[in-house]
Amino acid sequence: MDSFQSILIGAGHAAPSVASALAAHPALSWRAFHNRSPRELLGRQTLRGLPDSLADTHLLLLALPDDALEDCARRLAGLPLGDTPPIVAHLSPAAGRKVLSPLATAGCPTAVLHPLQSFRQRGQVLQIPWWGLCCADEEATFLKELLRADGAQVERLLEVELLPWHLSAVFTCNFLPALLDQALALWPSERRERIRQALLPILSTTLLHQVEGQRQPMGELLSGPLRRGDKGTLNRHLDWLEEHQPPEASVIYRLLSTRLLSLVEDAGLLPEEKQAELEKLLSHSKNGR
Ligand SMILES: NC(=O)c1ccc[n+]([C@@H]2O[C@H](COP(=O)([O-])OP(=O)(O)OC[C@H]3O[C@@H](n4cnc5c(N)ncnc54)[C@H](OP(=O)(O)O)[C@@H]3O)[C@@H](O)[C@H]2O)c1
Repeated sequence: MDSFQSILIGAGHAAPSVASALAAHPALSWRAFHNRSPRELLGRQTLRGLPDSLADTHLLLLALPDDALEDCARRLAGLPLGDTPPIVAHLSPAAGRKVLSPLATAGCPTAVLHPLQSFRQRGQVLQIPWWGLCCADEEATFLKELLRADGAQVERLLEVELLPWHLSAVFTCNFLPALLDQALALWPSERRERIRQALLPILSTTLLHQVEGQRQPMGELLSGPLRRGDKGTLNRHLDWLEEHQPPEASVIYRLLSTRLLSLVEDAGLLPEEKQAELEKLLSHSKNGR
């Protein structure tokens, strides 16, 4: 198998896990790691700034913040590319392939490789269970093989699917802590630490239900007052939120409950009249705000 000489630019939160996952492919060899400031990446020192040449490079991967990609792509497009320009990829579905257009114009195939994982700590290597891949058909076979080398699954994405893919990750991974924070906001600050501890096990069990029941209708995995059609409890919740919390708390409650109610409806868990009563209760605030 030919050696696939690769360069990685960027040494932030995502870089170690991404570099390690791709290195699981027997043909891939990381020729150099580059970064604007000196850092250690997988036990190697990064080289400062950008490479001088991209000749004899098969893959160039940019692990940079979304806003830095355009400028970097423009500067890289001016480098010697050799007879066979490298595949150039970055990690941001929100930026899309078009941010690499100066390199595409210079003859480089381009791709977005999105690791569906949450990298929080610099230097930490996490397993990447799923990747989103957007590229032309010519590069797809090779890139899929590369991303699967560490046991990951790969979802091929059209250009127009990149934003919904990213938004799905934001709705789940990013908004879950926001919901936990909303739950804690109902408490005075001195009680929050203990309440947070108390909520984490039920949060874990709820996620476990989703994993275990992933082939069942989502409504069947729910518990709580909406699942039971408990109108009195919903009424008391809304009264309390509207009396004690800023308006956004009851807005969030009503919006998410409406979403849950549609799951309950899909699973046929409540009689139609009960469903209609709950929909009405959730559709507007009691005090008209
Ligand atoms: N973090 C995640 O959970 C995650 C998950 C999936 C995908 N991604 C994607 O991965 C990419 C990188 O994210 P990250 O979280 O690893 O970012 P990050 O931790 O902020 O790291 C960014 C890296 O880029 C360098 N950098 C920052 N601004 C730069 C600039 N203007 N010019 C050149 N280099 C610059 C930084 O250098 P210094 O070391 O000098 O600061 C650092 O090495 C993004 O496209 C992001 O969307 C991230």
